[in-house]
Amino acid sequence: MSEIKPVSISYVDFKAGKDFTEEVTEAFGANGLGLIVVRDLPDFQKERQAALRAIRKFADLPEETKEKYTDSKSNYSVGWSHGKEKMRNGVPDTAKGSYYANPLDDIITDDQYLKENFPELYADNIWPGEDMPELEPAFKEMTHVQLGVGYMICELFDRYLHSKTNGLHPAGHFLEMLRRGTTCKGRLLHYFPAPPTASKSQDGLCGWHLDHGGITILTCPLYLDMQRNEIPAPSDCGLHIKHPTDGSIVKVTLPPDCMLVQLGESFQYLSGGHLRATAHCVKSSQTPDITRETLALFMDWMPEEVMKLPEYTRPYSEVVHTPFLPEGVPELEGRIKGAKHYRDFAKNTYTAYYCEK
Ligand SMILES: [Fe+2]
Repeated sequence: MSEIKPVSISYVDFKAGKDFTEEVTEAFGANGLGLIVVRDLPDFQKERQAALRAIRKFADLPEETKEKYTDSKSNYSVGWSHGKEKMRNGVPDTAKGSYYANPLDDIITDDQYLKENFPELYADNIWPGEDMPELEPAFKEMTHVQLGVGYMICELFDRYLHSKTNGLHPAGHFLEMLRRGTTCKGRLLHYFPAPPTASKSQDGLCGWHLDHGGITILTCPLYLDMQRNEIPAPSDCGLHIKHPTDGSIVKVTLPPDCMLVQLGESFQYLSGGHLRATAHCVKSSQTPDITRETLALFMDWMPEEVMKLPEYTRPYSEVVHTPFLPEGVPELEGRIKGAKHYRDFAKNTYTAYYCEK
C-alpha cells in the first residue's frame, strides 16, 4: 500500500489573500483526493495534546463511571459511546470509543419538539463534570481552533467557485450557509489497544464510507503506550482512501502541526460536482499495547437547507458518481433521490449505512 502526501495550503498565505485555484482543483476536482492539508497554522499543540490526552484518560475510567455519561435517548450522539455503533455486518464496534458534543453551544435550542423528535441533532451536551473536569475545556478549546479552519476552507471554496463559474456562484454563499448550521458535532475518538487475538492477516480496512455532511476537520492522531507516553505513529494504521483515478488504496499522512480537511457528499452535491468527496476508512493498528486518539469535527448545514443543484452544475450523472466506490458503500444517487431537505438526505444516509439488509 502506498503512502500519499495530499495537497497542502498555507494558512498564512490564505490570510494574505493568495489565490489557491490550482490547489483546490488538484485536491477537490475530478481527479482530486477529496482532502487538503492546512499548514502554517498558529500553534495549537497545547490544545491538541490536552484534548487527545483527555479522551485517553476518559477511556481509561471504570466502565460504571463512563456509563454515567452516555445518552441512549439521543442514540448515543452526545457524551460517551462505546460498543453502541454497529458495523455493517451488525457486529457492535468495540474497537473504538467516542465522546460526542456540539462545539458551538451546550444547548443549541429550547424547542422541546425538536429535542424530542430529533435528539441526535438537538440533544444538549453532557460533560463528565467532577469525574473528569478537564475534558470539557479541552474539547471546547481544540474544536474552536478546528471551527476556524473549517470556516476558512469554506471561504476558500466560495472564492474558488465564484471565479470558476464567472460569478454565477454567489460570493460567500456556502460560508453563510455553514454559519447558519448549528448542529455541528465534535467527536473525540479513542481506539483501544488491539486485542491479543487480533489476526495479523486481517488488513483492518473495514468501515469504508464517505462523510455526508459539509466539511470535516481532523487533527493528527496521538499514539500512546500503556503509560500514556507519546510514541511514533505505527506504520500499519491510519487514514486510507480510494484513489479516484485508479481505485488503489493509499494511506494519507498528516504532520502534527497541520490539519486535514475532507469534504462531505452533500457539499459535493450542492457544488454541482465541482468539489468532490472521497471514500475513506481508518485502519486500526494490530500492534498491541498502544492506543490512538484523535478529534474529528463535522461541520454541518442546517437540517432545513434545501438540497438543490446550482445553475452551474456539472451533468447529474457526474455529480452523483463516486469512482471506485468500495463494496458495500451505498451510492449517493439512491440517498439523494427525493431528499428535499438536508435532513432527508442525512436520514437516508443513516438508514442506508446502518439499517440496510
Ligand atoms: Fe469519515
